[in-house]
Amino acid sequence: APGSPALTPPLGWNSWNSFGCGITEAQVRQAADAMVSSGMRDAGYQYVVVDDCWFDPQRDSSGNLRHHPTKFPSGMKALGDYIHSKGLKFGIYQAPNEKTCAQGVGTHPGSTGSKGHEVQDARSFASWGVDYLKYDWCSGAGTRDEQIARFSIMRDALRATGRPIVYSINSNSFHAPTGDKYDWGEVADLWRTTEDLLDIWQNGNTNSYPMGVGNVLDVTAPLAAQTGPGNWNDPDMLVVGRPGLSLTESRAHFALWALMAAPLMAGNDIRTMSADVSAILRNPRLLAVNQDPLGAGGRRVRDDGNTEVFAKALSDGSVAVGLLNRGGGTTTISTTAAQIGLSGNGFTLTDLWTGGTSTSTGTISASVPAHGVAAFRVTGGSPITATTSRLRGTGSGRC
Ligand code: GLA
Repeated sequence: APGSPALTPPLGWNSWNSFGCGITEAQVRQAADAMVSSGMRDAGYQYVVVDDCWFDPQRDSSGNLRHHPTKFPSGMKALGDYIHSKGLKFGIYQAPNEKTCAQGVGTHPGSTGSKGHEVQDARSFASWGVDYLKYDWCSGAGTRDEQIARFSIMRDALRATGRPIVYSINSNSFHAPTGDKYDWGEVADLWRTTEDLLDIWQNGNTNSYPMGVGNVLDVTAPLAAQTGPGNWNDPDMLVVGRPGLSLTESRAHFALWALMAAPLMAGNDIRTMSADVSAILRNPRLLAVNQDPLGAGGRRVRDDGNTEVFAKALSDGSVAVGLLNRGGGTTTISTTAAQIGLSGNGFTLTDLWTGGTSTSTGTISASVPAHGVAAFRVTGGSPITATTSRLRGTGSGRC
């Protein structure tokens, strides 16, 4: 959105996928500690986001939001100070309705959504040192115009605080068969494109809860042109390292989200993750592709059914490529430099998993395991303008 502090996709951790409504202050502090001890902070992760259920079910007599007295005993300002003392940033959750999502489904009492309290709540957030707001529309669909109006009120309230606060919205209005194609770039810095992603590889062809990696990919990949600095499609928080995905699937999911220029919000319990999972999240080559300042969203440039090819244009003229195997057995997947927008006959391929390099006269090919992604950065040659301008997209640079 205009004035966005998120000129590259936000990187962080969010409490929801592992802790849900049970989240406590102690767990958030431990997650902040783990961001540092795991090396995630040094790899570029910044935001520690407390999702739903952090608040007291009643506002105070002046209508101010309050922390939950037993779950977050020190209060949100103290928690924000702790997170900042670790060199990290503080994220929080609210809703533009009477109730948050958990209040709507009854897993948290009360009706303390921000509707009618936007300016007051934005000021509370700023006074607590909040750097990121996840604002989640949950009670009923609402018309598009209503949603734009209500989400814009909070955008303006946040900007009016003078504190740079990343604005992440979930319109929850994507249940049409092809998902929600609306471009929220004037309203928010990032916007959810689908229902909740669970640790499932593929759940039929559903566009409704619960969605798997393949489902979310299919809805979000065609929206790549709306992505650019300050404007990010949000295909939901990562399920990397969650129990329902194999390591190969976690790797594929991470590579695809990196290529889509998605915000990368780890959702696993980073206090106890394995070395393998930690290494996926901290892969410096895929993080560099994700954080590339051009902000182009990866495009599906080839779809052969079970095998697909994604390409993301990068600011130095190179192109990142992902070869996805959705099928059940190992298979060889190939593309060409021309297909990803590069002409010439001498290229260097950097394997984004191993860092190893090889040379090629134009073929990019790998043997890819079931549910795997091989990924390369292709340098050399010169851009084929028609293809690269399509890969770079039209949605970028609005801010
Ligand atoms: C919705 C959102 C989730 C999470 C929960 C909290 O389901 O999509 O990401 O924030 O609400 O209740």
